[in-house]
Amino acid sequence: MWKPPQRIKFHSSLGRVPTPDEAKASRLFSPVQLGPLGLAQRTWVPAMVPWRSNDEGWVTEDVLQWYGRFARGRPGAIVVEATGIRDVPSGPLLRIGHDRCVEGLQALVQTIHRESQGQTRALIQIIDFLNIRRRPEPAKFFERFLRITPRLRQVLRAQDWSEEAVRAHLSQLDPAQWPEVLDARELEALQMGARERVTDTELPHIRELPQVLPSLFAAAAKRAQLAGFDGVELHYAHAYTMASFLSATNHRTDGYGGDRAQRIRLPLEVYGAVRQAVGASYAVGCRYLAQECIEGGHTLDDAVWYGEQFARAGMDYISTSRGGKFDDAKQPGVGSSAYPYTGRSGYECMPQYLSDEQGPFGRNVAATARIRSAIRSAGLQTPVVCTGGVHNFEMAEAMLVRGDCDIVGTARQSLADPDWALKTSMGMGDQVRLCEYTNYCEGLDQKHKQVTCQLWDRQALDEPGVRKSHDGKRRLVAPPWQPPA
Ligand SMILES: Cc1cc2nc3c(=O)[nH]c(=O)nc-3n(C[C@H](O)[C@H](O)[C@H](O)COP(=O)(O)O)c2cc1C
Ligand code: SF4
Repeated sequence: MWKPPQRIKFHSSLGRVPTPDEAKASRLFSPVQLGPLGLAQRTWVPAMVPWRSNDEGWVTEDVLQWYGRFARGRPGAIVVEATGIRDVPSGPLLRIGHDRCVEGLQALVQTIHRESQGQTRALIQIIDFLNIRRRPEPAKFFERFLRITPRLRQVLRAQDWSEEAVRAHLSQLDPAQWPEVLDARELEALQMGARERVTDTELPHIRELPQVLPSLFAAAAKRAQLAGFDGVELHYAHAYTMASFLSATNHRTDGYGGDRAQRIRLPLEVYGAVRQAVGASYAVGCRYLAQECIEGGHTLDDAVWYGEQFARAGMDYISTSRGGKFDDAKQPGVGSSAYPYTGRSGYECMPQYLSDEQGPFGRNVAATARIRSAIRSAGLQTPVVCTGGVHNFEMAEAMLVRGDCDIVGTARQSLADPDWALKTSMGMGDQVRLCEYTNYCEGLDQKHKQVTCQLWDRQALDEPGVRKSHDGKRRLVAPPWQPPA
């Protein structure tokens, strides 16, 4: 992962630990309403892909155990990981693209409700993503993948050559000559792996996204509702299809790209279709980027405006993230795919303890506060979730008291210690296992390995019933913690 050149070391801290009475009187442990959905407290586990599903995208026993463990810490809400809305193979990522997915998802909701003793609300993040290929071997790329176009023939002065001869010639080129011969997309396909963009409107399936996606999202949301989820989160963040529509890099000319009013059109149409499918009394929100953190990305002004439009449209909550784009991702190894959290924008999404002067804690707060303030100025009460580097009560409570947000998301801190909020609410905040922001977990995610936390994944491996990673070396869920009777 990219790191700021300053490499200043930051350490997380427990902050001021509240007494049980202080915790009881706090904003963090007070209820909040997301439209029709009430949360018992303002703690929130945002979506995190743990690579626990199987090749069919089912809810497996490992998926149930993963979410059951978070639920035992009784946060206000858990958002189940980005779950694919299409019925297509996508490795061990959860899927909600067919009615046959509903039964497994039902078991997942029941697990969250049961293990939290009915205290935690279960939401699910639903996602669409475009095709991305692994970085190819150059020989294979020239032999098979590269399309031999008239432009290429012209550059090579090879109009009369057979396709085989063109391919053979290209294979012999020195890599330094590639940029002279290949256009930018061909070069990207060779050096990074081919990646579709929402602006590739010459491809029928990309051109038709605005016609196809509203009903796909709506059907997925309906399945979430049937499975018993308390709400659904539309994934409009990071490197995926809907965020790419919102991005300032979206120059589609069909009314769904260009200025921000056109870029938000599909996200609003998707929301409209989802709302129609699930009805007014079901919680629907979205997660989107307060800042894209890439060159030419949308501005904070755009994000503020988007937030206001989402709230006006009737979303029940808005959750922010930042960065996490393919645009500045590092070159993957041959045979691997680019990962959108390896560049500067990736750092902004999951900042690490080696940082710049600003540090890794709360980098998303100021931008989110501006979004929330604009929503309030428009006379709307839509709750806003802010996430990023939050790991103790003092920080979370200050964000709520200042009015930066209404709910506080903690991803890695919840992974490091799923009981952190429960311990804190009981006056045992000094027992919290603090996330060190090393990004060991994110490194596993990048390699599509089962995500665990280095602070506990080697502990008590022989405990009865412990499920282990494929290589048998790591436990898959945090060790149990028993609250005192
Ligand atoms: C292993 C891992 C998987 C993640 N998967 C998702 C995801 O599926 N959807 C999403 O919106 N964000 C995802 N994120 C980003 C987190 O939700 C969160 O925004 C980010 O980690 C910053 O918050 P934190 O500092 O509290 O960890 C993931 C983060 C991690 C560490
Ligand atoms: S591995 Fe654990 S300590 Fe390290 S960043 Fe992830 S959650 Fe935090």
